[in-house]
Order: sequence, then structure tokens, then C-alpha cells
Amino acid sequence: MSSPILVSLALILSLPFVFFFTQHLLPQFSPDSDDLSLFHRATTTTTTTTAHTTNHLSTKPKIAFLFLTNTNLTFAPLWEKFFTGNNHLFNIYIHADPTSSVVSPGGVFHNRFIPSKLTQRASPTLISATRRLIASALLDDPLNQYFALVSQHCVPLLSFRFVYKYLFKNQLLSLASFTANDGNFLYPSFIEILSDDQNLNERYNARGENVMLPEVRFEDFRVGSQFFILNRKHAMVVVRDKKLWKKFRLPCINVYSCYPEEHYFPTLLSMEDPNGCTGFTLTRVNWTGCWDGHPHLYTPEEVSPELVRQLRVSNSSYSYLFARKFSPESLAPLMDIADDVIFRD
Ligand SMILES: *[C@@H]1O[C@H](CO)[C@@H](O)[C@H](O)[C@H]1NC(C)=O
Ligand SMILES: *[C@@H]1O[C@H](CO)[C@@H](O)[C@H](O)[C@H]1NC(C)=O
Ligand SMILES: *[C@@H]1O[C@H](CO)[C@@H](O)[C@H](O)[C@H]1NC(C)=O
Repeated sequence: MSSPILVSLALILSLPFVFFFTQHLLPQFSPDSDDLSLFHRATTTTTTTTAHTTNHLSTKPKIAFLFLTNTNLTFAPLWEKFFTGNNHLFNIYIHADPTSSVVSPGGVFHNRFIPSKLTQRASPTLISATRRLIASALLDDPLNQYFALVSQHCVPLLSFRFVYKYLFKNQLLSLASFTANDGNFLYPSFIEILSDDQNLNERYNARGENVMLPEVRFEDFRVGSQFFILNRKHAMVVVRDKKLWKKFRLPCINVYSCYPEEHYFPTLLSMEDPNGCTGFTLTRVNWTGCWDGHPHLYTPEEVSPELVRQLRVSNSSYSYLFARKFSPESLAPLMDIADDVIFRD
């Protein structure tokens, strides 16, 4: 045999070894088998509820509340009040970082923890945690039609009844325009999708110059709040995705521009179904005067009926239904105005 053939043969024979080493020596590239199996089950064993079932009185659609936390749920008593009396219209799922000793607040939160893993800022772990929550909720109950991601610092600004009607009114209004080919109601996901952020270029290249190519072109790269409410169709899109995750799971080289969870979901959904998203989040946050990546943290002194009313008002046609961030000490003054202000429609 001539030497070019030998060289080619040697190259071909070495491929399995190259494959083996890239799979085993670079932990960030290795697939996480627990997650893959969960995501696979969530997208194959559940079916999207059709018009006939959600339309039926005994099977009303539900909202899945996805709590993403690495501390105790300080505002559990306020949420408990929020949920009370609406048992058949919601489900709760909690992802708590197992390295922090989070205890169950009991009540509606009893037994609602899902198998969880470490979460850290400036890493893709918050994306994984969110996808785990969405997949668990998809699998658990086919009536989960909206998936609302909240953190331990989020509080409700309105009653459950209001939130429920608000989310599903579009769905009910669109009953008439139900399209059989789609199999879904025309109800939108509430996720912020922005393309005009001044740090977008740095954030796009946080994993290295043009590393996101070819899956994510800069013109497709988006930013938005980490907190959103997705419809079931988009929840499926998120759990099914492999293409974008391949890039977003790569570690950042520039940790100062590394906020994977603020980019992955808005980018994916704006690529997949921009018209199915409002581009607006229903969770209010106050960035005024903040520069360190942490929004304004409301203190007990700031909590008042006026603040709650102010936080509901937005510049768009939507109202804010939730707000963050509140210091743990804010619980007492929030509980004081819960019945008369927050949960009074
Ligand atoms: C949560 O609360 C429990 C007891 O109420 C406490 O032992 C634990 O340290 C707290 N965990 C965190 C992360 O604050
Ligand atoms: C937003 O936060 C700033 C301080 O950072 C505060 O002065 C302002 O009142 C807050 N706005 C609202 C609407 O709460
Ligand atoms: C609405 O827009 C004004 C002007 O741009 C801005 O000052 C204000 O903070 C915005 N309010 C909210 C709730 O985003």
C-alpha cells in the first residue's frame, strides 16, 4: 500500500479515540444522561392537550408555577394565600440547589421538589434547572398549559383569580379561531425578547469570538428577563431543543458578560416562533440605578399599597402580575396588605 492510503487509514482508525477523548476529557461536552432521559420522556410521552379536553368543564387548564431557588422560600406564606381556594387550577414544582439546605415550607409546597442539581451564576446551570422544571411539569400533568417561572424573590401583585383569567382570556377568546392543523390554542408566551441591548455583542462572544456560529447568528441573538410564562407548545420547544443548547452549554471565557439564562430562552423562542410570543415579561423588576447585575431590592420600609399599585403598571398594553426582588424582611409588610391590596382585584 502507498503511504497516503496508510495515513488515511491511520486517521480513520484514530477517529473513535478522538471521539472518546472529547466525550470524556471535557466534562462540559458530555451529555447529562439524567436530563436527556427526562427531556426525552417529557417530549415523547405527553401529548399536547387538544381543544376538546381543555374546553371541557371538568378539565380546566392549569398554570404550572416553577420555583427556581437556592434559598428557603421566604415568601411561601404570601404564595400560600395566593394559591388558596384554587386547588384544581395550578401545580407547583420547586428546583432547589441541593448544595444549599432548602427546607420545604409545607402547605401547598409540600412534596413539590423535583430532582435538582447545583445552580451557579455565569454558567448554563440555570438554563438546565429551568428546563428540568419545565420537563417535570410537562410530564406530570397534561392540563398544565402555562408554565410560569418564578424565583424566591418574586411576589404576586394580584390575586390568583386575576392571573388565571388574565392568562387564559386570550385562549378563550381565540376558541373561535382554533386551527386544527396546529393543535394549539392561539395563546401567547409572555417572554421578554430584546435585540437592542448595548452589551449584546460582548455577550454573544462570551464563549469566544463567533463560537455561537453557525447555530446562532449574531442577528438572531436576543436578550430578555430570566423570568417568563410559556405556553405548552413553547415549553415543548424548550425541552426538545438540542441545537441551541449545544452552544449555550459551552462555558464562558468572559465571565463578566456571561448570563446564559437571559439569552437562551429569548433567542430560542424568537427563532422558533416569534409571533407566538408577546416579547414582554409579566414580572416587574426595577433596574433603575443598578449597574452590578443585581436589580433594586425592595426593603420593608418601601412596601406600601402605593408601591404594589405602581408596580402593576407597565408601558405596554399588559399589566405586571408579579414583581421582584424583595428582601426577606419584606414578608411582614406584604402580608399586612395582602388581603386588602394585593389580592383585591
Ligand atoms: C432554611 O431553613 C432551615 C430551617 O428553617 C435552615 O436550617 C436552613 O439553613 C435554611 N436554608 C437556607 C439556605 O437558608
Ligand atoms: C426603583 O429603584 C429606585 C432605586 O434604585 C427607587 O428610587 C425607585 O423608587 C424604584 N422605583 C419603583 C417604581 O419602585
Ligand atoms: C416607562 O417609560 C418611561 C420612559 O421611558 C420610563 O422612565 C419608565 O421607567 C417606564 N416604566 C416602566 C414600568 O417600565
